[in-house]
Amino acid sequence: MKKLTSEQLRSSYLEFFKERGHAVIPSASLIPENDPSVLFTTAGMHPLVPYLLGQKHPAGKRLTDVQKCVRTGDIDEVGDATHLTFFEMLGNWSLGDYFKEESIGFSFDFLTKVLEIPVEKIAVTVFAGDEDCPRDTFAASVWEKHGIPKDRIFYLPKKNNWWYAGATGPCGSDTEIFIDTGKPACSDHCDPSCDCGKWVEIWNNVFMEFNRTADGKFEPLKQKNVDTGMGLERTVCMINGLRSAYETDLFTDVIAKISEESGKKYGENEEDTRAIRIIADHIRTATFLIGDERGVVPSNVDQGYVLRRLIRRSVRFARQIGFDSAKLVDLAKIYIEKYKDVYPELQVNAAKIVEELTKEEERFSKTLENGLKEIEKVLKYVQGDKLNGKTAFRLYDTFGFPIEMTEEICRERGFGVDKEGYDKAFEEHQKKSQAGAEQKFKGGLADTSKRTTYLHTATHLLLGCLKKVLGRDDIQQKGSNITAERLRFDFNFDRPLTEEEKKAVEDAVNDAIARDIPVVCEEMTVEQAREQNAVGVFGSRYGEMVKVYTIGDVDKEICGGPHAEHTGQLVHFRLLKEQSSSAGVRRIKATIDAE
Ligand code: SER
Repeated sequence: MKKLTSEQLRSSYLEFFKERGHAVIPSASLIPENDPSVLFTTAGMHPLVPYLLGQKHPAGKRLTDVQKCVRTGDIDEVGDATHLTFFEMLGNWSLGDYFKEESIGFSFDFLTKVLEIPVEKIAVTVFAGDEDCPRDTFAASVWEKHGIPKDRIFYLPKKNNWWYAGATGPCGSDTEIFIDTGKPACSDHCDPSCDCGKWVEIWNNVFMEFNRTADGKFEPLKQKNVDTGMGLERTVCMINGLRSAYETDLFTDVIAKISEESGKKYGENEEDTRAIRIIADHIRTATFLIGDERGVVPSNVDQGYVLRRLIRRSVRFARQIGFDSAKLVDLAKIYIEKYKDVYPELQVNAAKIVEELTKEEERFSKTLENGLKEIEKVLKYVQGDKLNGKTAFRLYDTFGFPIEMTEEICRERGFGVDKEGYDKAFEEHQKKSQAGAEQKFKGGLADTSKRTTYLHTATHLLLGCLKKVLGRDDIQQKGSNITAERLRFDFNFDRPLTEEEKKAVEDAVNDAIARDIPVVCEEMTVEQAREQNAVGVFGSRYGEMVKVYTIGDVDKEICGGPHAEHTGQLVHFRLLKEQSSSAGVRRIKATIDAE
């Protein structure tokens, strides 16, 4: 077998398919566009669904790429030798062009000629047939023609040899390619679907000829497609005779750094090795998620929550092996360097990656220690074999422990968690803070049209800019009223503003609008908001969840929303009037040019 590095495998794969008429297309974003049904891009075909359904692709009918993918179904499994949350998928597609014969021929040639894998190490599976689609004797005959003997071709049912992207959409039977690791078969019935470790799947060629409809029917597609996917990490590992993807060049530098800093060697004992793998995997995924062209930041919902879990789990395991979690960001820097030529967005967003990782690490490492103490304490007195839901919620709310982390820690101690109780506590809390937010919101806004929403964002910019221009951090909102025409904003200040000051405030708001800053909303506890110097109404109840709106470096406030998505939507800001409101309180009326 040819011992290729990850970089060599990527380039030889793309080159091979380019020579065979495929256009090389760039990897799509990890955050799917126009597909709210999934959080992340999980396969190379995912961004290509419209083209598999018949839309014309601008690059043609033969495509190839390396797609960054994230699968988070089993974050908790990461730590063993095989699970990864981020991986790269090498793929080639025929959009109504070639079908089974050429596809199998390409795969066979790439594996045996480019990677020089001996034919006798290859085994394949093909679809056994059922009422939806006949037995794939054709694919089997093509494999045989290439020299794969009959006893290395296995017919398996839909469960194994059918590929769906989701409950509906393009799908079809597939032929999967496995490498025999040389381990003895575990039984007479051992076939590639067995997970005894004898077989490693490296490539999947899907013959997409159906569209699965919402009522579970398989309709023939307009065109017959081929969708293939080969796991980069797994293949590099296999051709280099390694036991785990973590031993490949993709991880070498990061693992060396973790070892150097913590004094714990990879492979020396199971517990430390597991922690090293978790950190190496999770920080790689976090780097790609923040650094993505549609990058996300840690939060309590959707992709942001997955990112938060990954970072917080890394912080916990770093602490476990004596690796200073403030240095997790150094691992991200190694990854940026390693991947920047293939994924230039990491370099472009390097500062953001460093900033967001640092912020999240700082946020969590402050509460981690106390949270761990608290968990130890409650586990001592726990009744039965489960931690109660209210306590699990308190750990989340006060110490920032994602529920999955509490579950993991409890599992390590032989306890479960009352998840239902947790969900109930969570829901009750949401209802309360929602009601609170709505109340606050009603106080300031007359209605919720787009324009009043934007005017609301303008009041935040105004507050931030007043503080800056007047050089007074103690300036606060004393009142706010918004109509469709204008905003009215009261603040503590004991003299009229000069003409220069008024102009400077107006200019500063317009500068923020011109910079088109995203308005970011995060949910957090009052304590966390205070820690981040957010201004606004601080509820007195400990652990209350609030929304915090951040507009770049201009303003950060606890607020019920809603707001513009980015400041550019406000178009232009005009100060109409500055006057006295009451003793020590000034009033500004202003408007914006947005419709
Ligand atoms: N879509 C198939 C897979 O993910 C082949 O690319 O395995």
